[in-house]
Amino acid sequence: MENIGIEEEKGSDWGKSLPVPSVQELVRNDPQSVPEKYIQHHPDRPLVPDMASSSFDIPIIDFALLAKGDEHETRKLDLACKHWGFFQIINHGVAEEVLLKMKAAIAAFFGLPLEEKNKYAQAGNDFQGYGQQYVVSEEQKLDWCDMMFLITLPHEIRSLKYWPDTIPGFKDAVESYSKEARKVANEICTNISLLMGMDKDGLKGFYGKTKQAMRMNYYPPCSRPDLVLGINPHSDPDIITLLLQDDEVPGLQIRHKDKWILVKPIRNAIVANVGDVLEILSNGVYKSVEHRAITNERESRISVATIKIPYDELEIGPMECTVDDDRPRMYRNIKYLDYVRYTLGRKMEGKAHIDNILKIEGS
Ligand code: OGA
Ligand code: NI
Repeated sequence: MENIGIEEEKGSDWGKSLPVPSVQELVRNDPQSVPEKYIQHHPDRPLVPDMASSSFDIPIIDFALLAKGDEHETRKLDLACKHWGFFQIINHGVAEEVLLKMKAAIAAFFGLPLEEKNKYAQAGNDFQGYGQQYVVSEEQKLDWCDMMFLITLPHEIRSLKYWPDTIPGFKDAVESYSKEARKVANEICTNISLLMGMDKDGLKGFYGKTKQAMRMNYYPPCSRPDLVLGINPHSDPDIITLLLQDDEVPGLQIRHKDKWILVKPIRNAIVANVGDVLEILSNGVYKSVEHRAITNERESRISVATIKIPYDELEIGPMECTVDDDRPRMYRNIKYLDYVRYTLGRKMEGKAHIDNILKIEGS
């Protein structure tokens, strides 16, 4: 890992998405129009009445109890990662002010005029900045969403040209929230290490230094929420994601037992999900679950996914402690950079990425 240049670690060779128009601008110019490129094929369209009446709720983990080593809470975390791949974290100790400032910073950014936002547009071969990810062909259905992606930690690999310096408090907000999110993610990883049968630094020992990035999403209202998706079904190509979603406007859905389940916002909670890398490291014990976002007619929605990712050169594969005669190795090893390039080079396709290139036949 020593000889990785900082430029390379900024991820400029992760792969690039085709440019797409701003959905926010499209709605501003004509609130009724829903161009063909956003209209999902029939089976992929959301059932909008589902929004209110979901019969399941994803597990809720009390972070304060977890951090104290409470056995019941630890067991809940284990089951949540195995059966749901998703959970909501309450009592995480992140001050409400930090959460509010983070959301306000995102709202302020998307509130800028288009020309201002375009100053931070993805440039050249980069995937950081204002724009979109996973757009690789003229045919695919686009997300009803605009996005801003920044690598936030460690400091030395930030690309500050993408940080909107004209918004007072933006940098501070990202700084404070990133630090707090890192604490939360690390505590979860500590617990997962113990659950996987390692010592508490087991996962950390494996991935060593990690990077953290943020995907800030802005979902404009849509006159036909029954036809579009805010974000197409995908799983996250990371270790773990912490999603701060709008307290008022729901939209996130996860696939559970072949149904789409709405993750109802809980005020000030953080939604966490297992990423592909953790699924691979745990030899499939923990599930990186497919999810998507739906839109609504009246209100825009913002969210920010904070993702924990290994350094590019790290080789990922099932950890020894997860493989035995009863549970043979399910995935082959791959360099993280190759995995990310593979995922970013394709449209989002549920869990197809991990299954297509890593799954060992017959496992
Ligand atoms: C993501 C994501 C869901 C949401 O950014 O990876 O899944 O509700 N977002 O914004
Ligand atoms: Ni996601």
